[in-house]
Amino acid sequence: MPVPLFASSLDEYQPRIAEKLAEVARSGRYILGPEVAGFEDAFARYLGVRHCVGVANGTDALTIALRAVGVKPGDDVVLPSFTFYATAEAVVTVGARPVFCDIDPTTFCVTAETIEAAVTARTTAIVPVHLFGNVAPMDELERFGLPLVEDAAQAAGATYRGRRAGALGTAATFSFFPSKNLPCLGDGGAVVTDDDDVAALARRLRFHGSEDKRTFTEVGYNSRLDELQAAVLSLLLPELDGWNERRRTAAATYERLGLGDHAELPVPVAGAEHVYHLYVVRNERLEGVGTGYYRVPCHLQPAMREWGADALELPGTREAALTNVALPMGKDLTEAQIEEVVKACASGST
Ligand SMILES: Cc1ncc(COP(=O)(O)O)c(C=O)c1O
Repeated sequence: MPVPLFASSLDEYQPRIAEKLAEVARSGRYILGPEVAGFEDAFARYLGVRHCVGVANGTDALTIALRAVGVKPGDDVVLPSFTFYATAEAVVTVGARPVFCDIDPTTFCVTAETIEAAVTARTTAIVPVHLFGNVAPMDELERFGLPLVEDAAQAAGATYRGRRAGALGTAATFSFFPSKNLPCLGDGGAVVTDDDDVAALARRLRFHGSEDKRTFTEVGYNSRLDELQAAVLSLLLPELDGWNERRRTAAATYERLGLGDHAELPVPVAGAEHVYHLYVVRNERLEGVGTGYYRVPCHLQPAMREWGADALELPGTREAALTNVALPMGKDLTEAQIEEVVKACASGST
């Protein structure tokens, strides 16, 4: 039996999910009703922020958050090249210029030094990505005095120096894609912030730039989290911390069973409590046991040629792109499965 890369199942929650979905279906409220408001409230409280705005997916969340913190067409936005493509795509969607910075290949996250090398006089925002469930060193990034938009798509529930990922920057974005640590049953996302004005603009932008459906003050989007997804998210949110604990146990088991003899293991950023959305090690010879996750960094993607061609030297990105391999991870990964993966790594690593 091959071990699945995403070893998480919602099987035990299906009866409660079905009941909840039927209740919402009967309610006749499908768009921006009580379920969305209830989830926004619960998720904001969970993170320790004042506002949560539910949107259609994590990519729209980034686009909307960038505009909401004031990024304008022609601005420069600094982001890591080693991330899911959507991070870069959102910068281009708002008309800004992506300036790709490097990462520390041991954490897969940006550092103050890699960002410093990329900041220009035209930079109006920085997007630290909490990649694979790690948390970028946010305290060190405040020195730039620029809005920080955390891409927390992969880091629901992670903490940094005792605060949640998502509560560390000017605004943050989440994805609730089904494979994420906090999943829904399709696409979903959120923008979160402590700033009242950023929240108000994000709220308008998700609904065509309007507060009241009559006056349209911005050209926005139709990008709403829907009632069915919000209902599922409210049901699953109380499980998130327990699930993340199981992911951390699985990571510790990989280590205990000797995986470190066969690959460079993931390193949490100092002060971060990692939530292992993905368990990504470094040893390219393990491709086949696991999956090379981001082999071609964003600045080398064909669609990014205009901004990638004259990108800075990114040696950490090159190293990570060549060597990264995602191994099975999830709340339901068993010790026997981990043993099997470690054995396969032992025979595949030489
Ligand atoms: C780091 C990162 N940013 C952004 C996104 C985009 O989220 P979505 O797929 O919900 O649009 C993802 C999701 O795959 C992601 O992993």
